[in-house]
Amino acid sequence: MTDQPKSAPQTGGPVMTTSAGAPIPDNQNSLSAGPRGPLLLQDYQLIEKLAHQNRERIPERVVHAKGWGAHGTLRITGDISKYTRAKVLQPGTETPMIARFSTVAGEAGAADAERDVRGFSLKFYTPEGNWDLVGNNTPVFFVRDPVKFPDFIHTQKRHPRTNLRSPTAMWDFWSLSPESLHQVTILMSDRGLPVGVRHINGYGSHTFSLINDAGERFWVKFHFKTMQGHKHWTNEEAADVVGRTRESTQEDLFEAIETGDFPKWKMQVQIMPELDADKTPYNPFDLTKVWPHGDYPLIDIGEFELNRNADNYFSEIEQVAFSPSNIVPGIGFSPDKMLQARIFAYADAHRHRIGTHYEALPVNAPKSPVNNYHKDGAMRFTPNNPNPAAYYEPNSFGGPVERAEYREPPLRISGDADRYNHREGNDDFSQPRALFELFDQAQKDRLFSNIAAAMGDIPDFIEERQCALFDQVHPDYGAGVRRARAAIKDRNPSISAPTDKVLADASA
Ligand code: NDP
Ligand code: HEM
Repeated sequence: MTDQPKSAPQTGGPVMTTSAGAPIPDNQNSLSAGPRGPLLLQDYQLIEKLAHQNRERIPERVVHAKGWGAHGTLRITGDISKYTRAKVLQPGTETPMIARFSTVAGEAGAADAERDVRGFSLKFYTPEGNWDLVGNNTPVFFVRDPVKFPDFIHTQKRHPRTNLRSPTAMWDFWSLSPESLHQVTILMSDRGLPVGVRHINGYGSHTFSLINDAGERFWVKFHFKTMQGHKHWTNEEAADVVGRTRESTQEDLFEAIETGDFPKWKMQVQIMPELDADKTPYNPFDLTKVWPHGDYPLIDIGEFELNRNADNYFSEIEQVAFSPSNIVPGIGFSPDKMLQARIFAYADAHRHRIGTHYEALPVNAPKSPVNNYHKDGAMRFTPNNPNPAAYYEPNSFGGPVERAEYREPPLRISGDADRYNHREGNDDFSQPRALFELFDQAQKDRLFSNIAAAMGDIPDFIEERQCALFDQVHPDYGAGVRRARAAIKDRNPSISAPTDKVLADASA
């Protein structure tokens, strides 16, 4: 194993010290009154050790808690300079980066080989600040209005009473939210259970904007295609893997990089002229929809590779903080409601999970200058402004100033402020149908049986409501799932989650 020293360990390193730097004479025996104790309160070395241990954990991420990551390099080879002035996207550019992959629902200690969406987060340390793309291995998402995100996540986490995952909650929510069909179909297809993150695609998912030197805006979607090929496990194979190791993805990614087999992803974009957004038959800012490749072809612009493991998992992977709000000049947002909420949510999460100055930690710090007037707060350790008289703005002492050249062109918007029903007039079926029709029969059969298994022991009315949605995607879809459910029920009349069933029946 790569974590073992290559030769016999040497005794005698540097002098061990307290965290204040004082040498420690004895790290084996606590200070006691007589050989049997009790201990003395003045043994501050023991107290420091126990106190530090008590503070070794920070809150895990509220979602995407289990993760794996590495450092790497982005290389741009294509030329999209007519669409964007972002330095990171100019031809010939090489940019250092870090990636973190994750599962969504499991806690920090969850097994890796679980059916779940994989997070695909990238932080590029560009000369104009950090650019973060915080996407998934799917181009779409379960909900299209952020007000439904906490509800959706509650269905993926544990039931408040049983403390168990609840298939009833999941399928109740999905069957009441037809916009989830596209993502549910991907999740339950082969791609919902990849053998590891080297074998997944990544998608920026949202529509973003690109802005060129002339101040013109284009809409863009980012895609990252695995160059290792797609590889998936069936549910049965995954159960076997989890029985052997809960860390299959960590092992696979870490070992590949450690042995020089650097994973790579091709980077591609789809570009839409700004005014096309009014013409497409679907809302191009709806996160439950893709832009069909036939309409907006993929353009190759480069690739990234992961080529260095973290030296310390906690400081570099657990404390890495991605946020969709981290954009750079030449890359902008879009009206996508989900993106708008995420622009707020992540930095808020980081201030809570890591602390006010999370961006000063080495893994999060930009490799370009940071000049602002934020002040103080817990754990402020960055040096003072070299120009201490300029601690407010405007000032007469040469402090940092804004530059109008970084302004974005105005965004065309219209409409009255209201709570618009996002389910009205929205086609939730055509795109999942296009995906379903891509699958061969064996893939469809696995889709049916994965769904049937994931439904566990949910109440019949939820199962039927969900199958009625599948019918609307494609009659073969609904029929296939019903068939697979019947087969499971024949084999095992009391299926897999009796507690869930009892609770649902009791509250019905
Ligand atoms: P295309 O035939 O041009 O593209 C199909 C896409 O589907 C490919 O990108 C392929 O990825 C991907 N794919 C294949 N199997 C799966 C799977 N099990 N789960 C998820 N994606 C898969 O068709 P369109 O662009 O017209 O899209 C048709 C449907 O394909 C869409 O409705 C959507 O569900 C799905 N799709 C579309 C994407 C897009 O951006 N247009 C992106 C991903 C999926 P790969 O190239 O890696 O094989
Ligand atoms: C993590 C919120 C939708 C991908 C998180 C975290 C929060 C959050 C609070 C934890 C951050 C942390 O503590 O570090 C939200 C909200 C959403 C939303 C409010 C919708 C309104 C999405 C979507 C995607 C996504 C649509 C993908 C397209 C991720 C990823 C992570 C994450 C990959 C893990 C980041 C990492 O590796 O550190 N999300 N999320 N989320 N989210 Fe979201």
